[in-house]
Amino acid sequence: MISEFVENTPTSASSFTENQLAALRHAAELLNSGKLVAIPTETVYGLAANAFDEDAVRAIFATKGRPSNNPLIVHIKALSDLHRVAQNIPELAFRLAEHFWPGPLTLILDKQAHISDTISAGYPTVAVRMPNHSLTLALLNRLDFPLVAPSANRSNHISPTQPEHVLNSLGEKAPFILDGGPCSQGLESTIVGFEKDQVVLYRLGALSENELENFIGQPLLIKSTGTTQIHSPGSSKKHYSPKTPLVLVDRLNEPLPLTEKRIGYLVLQKKFTLDAPHLVIELSEKGDLSEAASRLYAALHEMDAMDLDVIYAEKMPEKGLGNSINDRLFRASIR
Ligand code: TXA
Ligand code: MG
Repeated sequence: MISEFVENTPTSASSFTENQLAALRHAAELLNSGKLVAIPTETVYGLAANAFDEDAVRAIFATKGRPSNNPLIVHIKALSDLHRVAQNIPELAFRLAEHFWPGPLTLILDKQAHISDTISAGYPTVAVRMPNHSLTLALLNRLDFPLVAPSANRSNHISPTQPEHVLNSLGEKAPFILDGGPCSQGLESTIVGFEKDQVVLYRLGALSENELENFIGQPLLIKSTGTTQIHSPGSSKKHYSPKTPLVLVDRLNEPLPLTEKRIGYLVLQKKFTLDAPHLVIELSEKGDLSEAASRLYAALHEMDAMDLDVIYAEKMPEKGLGNSINDRLFRASIR
């Protein structure tokens, strides 16, 4: 089943332009020599390094300003590579991987002994996924090691869904960026782990809870109350933050009283317009939550660059990807 997926993705050399092939060669050379490369995925851009090169892995933490207690995700090119990084893999984990990979689902599994404590932040587990982007799959196919990659932004800032977001966030520390255009899904992967026969949700993300639960046939185990309270080890509640203060509100059918100087409104569907210096950004004209998810971070990056005094963000309907978007908006609202 998995081989069908891979064959359907255009990883063969002939489907890339000369420029893309040159960029792939360059990215592979850099990674082979222990350097970092920003890679496109369907979720967000990642800051990638050779998972088996300890200095390169450490460079990721230094470049992002990431605390060492926040573990990294290992990216593999095929389901058959899963054994290289994880062990004691539950049957259900295989079924999930077979069904959803390549795609935005990260599995927390027992790690193989050679996965370093730097990657796993000392935990006995490792996070693994197979990303769904033709360029990055082609890159992984040219390498004989998996890639560790957190999102390619400074720690706690908004994740990058376009190459220029990587440049803006990392500045002079930005590595070579493999340009794969805007990310199709635009939210980080959903992270799950396994306890006995149950699937535990660690992070809401681009794969909706509904889709997962439909496949598993039973509810996900959520350990804390309220989906916005879930978090993986090392990740703080405050996360994904714009520099501009962001206030989460239930509905934005009309503008709020204009007490501040410059106000940005982030809404699912536009119910009003305002003249500059204010700004209204609509995430999906049709009210489509997948489209809204794919545009969320670009909208936050855009608003953050406008020197607004405050951003009012409207809560999304609590279904499908609405819950994942609300999780990010909630975190963005924490000061
Ligand atoms: O979509 C994505 O997942 C993107 C792309 C680049 O693949 N990556 C990403 O990485 O979002 P990052 O580092 O920004 O988030 C990884 C999350 C962190 O919250 C971390 O705590 C969690 O994964 N994580 C990693 N290893 C873990 C483990 N062993 N147990 C629990 N959580 C883990
Ligand atoms: Mg991140």
